[in-house]
This record gives sequence, C-alpha cells and structure tokens, in this order.
Amino acid sequence: MALSDKDRIFTNLYGTQPWNLAAARMRGDWDGTAAIMAKGRDWVVEEMKQSGLRGRGGAGFPTGLKWSFMPKERPADGRPVYLVVNSDESEPGTCKDRDILRHDPHKLIEGCLIAGMAMGATAGYIYYRGEYFNEGNILQAAIDEAYDAGLLGKNAAGSGYDFDLYSHRGAGAYICGEETALIESLEGKKGMPRLKPPFPAAVGLYGCPTTVNNVETIAVVPTILRRGAGWFAGIGRPKNSGTKIFCLQGHVNKPCNVEAEMSIPLRELIDRYAGGVRGGWDNLLAVIPGGSSTPMIPKSVCDDVLMDFDALREHKTGLGTAGVIVMDKSTDLIKAIQRLSAFYKHESCGQCTPCREGMGWVNRVMMRMVEGRAEIDEIDVLEQVTRQIEGHTICALADGGVWPVQGLIRHFRPMMEERIAAYKAAHFPMAAE
Ligand SMILES: Cc1cc2nc3c(=O)[nH]c(=O)nc-3n(C[C@H](O)[C@H](O)[C@H](O)COP(=O)(O)O)c2cc1C
Ligand code: SF4
Repeated sequence: MALSDKDRIFTNLYGTQPWNLAAARMRGDWDGTAAIMAKGRDWVVEEMKQSGLRGRGGAGFPTGLKWSFMPKERPADGRPVYLVVNSDESEPGTCKDRDILRHDPHKLIEGCLIAGMAMGATAGYIYYRGEYFNEGNILQAAIDEAYDAGLLGKNAAGSGYDFDLYSHRGAGAYICGEETALIESLEGKKGMPRLKPPFPAAVGLYGCPTTVNNVETIAVVPTILRRGAGWFAGIGRPKNSGTKIFCLQGHVNKPCNVEAEMSIPLRELIDRYAGGVRGGWDNLLAVIPGGSSTPMIPKSVCDDVLMDFDALREHKTGLGTAGVIVMDKSTDLIKAIQRLSAFYKHESCGQCTPCREGMGWVNRVMMRMVEGRAEIDEIDVLEQVTRQIEGHTICALADGGVWPVQGLIRHFRPMMEERIAAYKAAHFPMAAE
C-alpha cells in the first residue's frame, strides 16, 4: 500500500507553498518545540533509537546511537560541542537535500535545535555545496526569520536552551561531503579527509566533540518526536524504518523526487511515482539504486528487490543516498560506468596512493573497455585492482569509485567480452579467424 499523504514528513517537497516561517508553522513545524525539548536529551536520544532512523547521508548508521556517542557533560576543559549538518550533496544522482533547503528549511532548522540539545551542542553549522547558491540564500533567510522569532539564539523557542545556527557555503568539491573533510573545510582549510579514529564525536570541529549528520536525517527529527518513535518505526521493515526521499531519474517517463515508504519494491517505486521505465519495464537494463557509488543491479534483480539498506546489501549494492538512476536498453553501460570512473578520478583529493593513482588507472582501462581495445584477461586484472583499492585508503571515496566497476563486471561481464571481441574482429580480422 502506498504511503498516505498524512504520513509524509516533507509536505512542501515540491515548493507548492512558501518556504517561510508563517507557512512552515501552518504545516506544523515549530509546534510544541519547547515541550519536546523539556523531555530532556536522554528522552530524545532514546526516541531516536526506538524510531530506528538510520542516517540518510549514505552509510545508514543508526542516528540515535550516533548521538549517544557524544559526551554526556560538557568537556572539563570547557570545549564546546557542535552539531554539523552535511548538505554538500555532491553524489551524482542525488538532489533531495536541495529540495529540503529551498522548500522546507524550517524542518531542518527546528531539527538542528532539537538535535543540538540532544547532544549538548551550543551551536550548529549547516555546510552546503557551493553550487547551492540560491538554496543557501533561502536557508540563511529562514535562519534569520527563526532568530527574529526567538526560535534560535538565547532561550531558543522558549526552551531555556541557548543554541546558535550558522550556514556555510562550500566551494563545490565532492570530497567535502566526507565528514572529516567537511570539518577541515569548515575550519577554512583544504577539504581533505583524515584518518579515524579519533571520530568527530571525540575530536571534531575546532577539535571539539562534533556530530555530523545529513540534512534529511536532521529534518525528519521533529516530526518523529511529535508523532512518536512507534509511528516512524511502523513504516518499512524492521531496521529499515521510516519514510525516505528517493530521487528517481534517468530513463523514466517522469523523473522526480518523492517521499515514499522505506522498503518499497523498486519496481513499484518507478512505476507509481516516475511513470515507469521509458518503453516499459521490459526495456529496463539496469539500475544504480543509491547514487553513483552503489553498484548497479540488472533487471532480474530489479524485478523484485526492496528499496532498503538490508535488502540491497543482500544483492551486493546499497541504498546509499537513494539516488535511483534507471538505465534502459539503449544505455552503453560500459560507457556509463567509465564516466563515473572519470568523476571519481577527478574528485580524488590525492592523499592516498591507491586512490590517486588507482582511480586514474581504472579510468584509463575503462576508456579502453568502452572501445573494446583490451584483452579479455584484463577484465580480471581490472577487478583485482579494484579489490586492491577498496578498503586501502583513508576515506570511502575510493571504495565508491571502484564499486560501480565491480558491479559492471559482476553483472555484465559478457557485454564487456563481446565489446572486446567486436573490436578485435573489426581491427584484426585475420587474427579472429
Ligand atoms: C566521498 C564522500 C562524500 C560524501 N558526501 C556526503 C554528502 O554529500 N552528504 C552527506 O550527508 N554525507 C556524505 N558523506 C557521508 C558523510 O561522511 C557522513 O557519513 C554523513 O554525513 C553522516 O550523516 P548521517 O549519519 O546522517 O547519514 C560522504 C562520504 C564520502 C566518503
Ligand atoms: S581515498 Fe581518495 S579522496 Fe579519500 S582521502 Fe584518500 S586520496 Fe583522498
């Protein structure tokens, strides 16, 4: 059964109403915020755990658990505690946080206040990608409105809690979405990841305990607390609960962002909300289910796979950011994946040799694979090299760079072999005989 409108959190996802405070209040935002905060940080963290919310930034880490890693008391040396909201949103195929920033910023701002209180933060920073210039302007205007209305700053929303919130525009680098790189960038340095541990909860922004959460993760918090953890946990499958914004694009009839229930079958998601695959379901070739880092799945898997963290993991892929890229039979899959390899090569920050050198190498080989100008054995070499890159770097950019290649080889190796055979037949016909 489809998610009913009354269970949708983002009721202004399409910007049909104004984003401003008056309209946001009409939609239910900022309703009883002080009463929620009065229940205390332990109650909020426990509710978040019970709701089953998992981070919407890609990795799906349980949100309540993450918040519980923050120090219970302000550190003895007087360091403050920070909340950082990740709105870098640079994963190809993903454009959901953008709609929250420009159409529903008060959901995020209220979420920051409550989440900030729940982790003892004195201030929050929303870091948004450089290209989101207009969205950033709206966000800042909404923050200003919230200050003017007494919802931020001293005694925020009449809660007795002091909390400041800042927006910060990045310069447009994919790597600045990685939480430690984001923190470096926010501090005014080059956005380069650092090794963990220490995790940001111990040493984060300006060396202070910090939690980094995705925009969607924080923006759903107030509604969960108003409606109850049980309501959110009752949507989707256990450990995969709640509603989720999916970005449906590629070879569909009506590309869109839509908030649907977690664990919805992929086919239903595409048919119901995106007008189906161009040319019909049987014209489907493959889908990248969770943004560019997640390995593609062929039509046979798409036929009945559920869209949640655990179901997709069983098929060696992931929900990631829920950026669903649909590719019909007209797609040159080898070329599509090579294009992603070029992206990851370009976005590597260059600190780790396997990523810096490896992604360039992978891209060069993929460029030959597109033409078929390769030996069949090189497919195995390519696969082995991706295994040498994966898990051997400081951050997960390199993993995300090689997983699409692994997905291609896993499911479409015969296509790559055919391409190589065709190249040989065209260029070396005597050898082929
Ligand atoms: C290369 C790279 C890029 C990332 N980009 C983003 C991003 O744009 N937005 C985001 O929320 N998380 C991004 N992440 C994940 C963050 O490091 C972090 O896990 C996330 O913000 C945590 O939020 P959550 O717990 O609410 O999911 C990225 C990770 C990597 C390795
Ligand atoms: S994996 Fe790549 S992007 Fe990440 S730190 Fe290493 S070189 Fe930089």
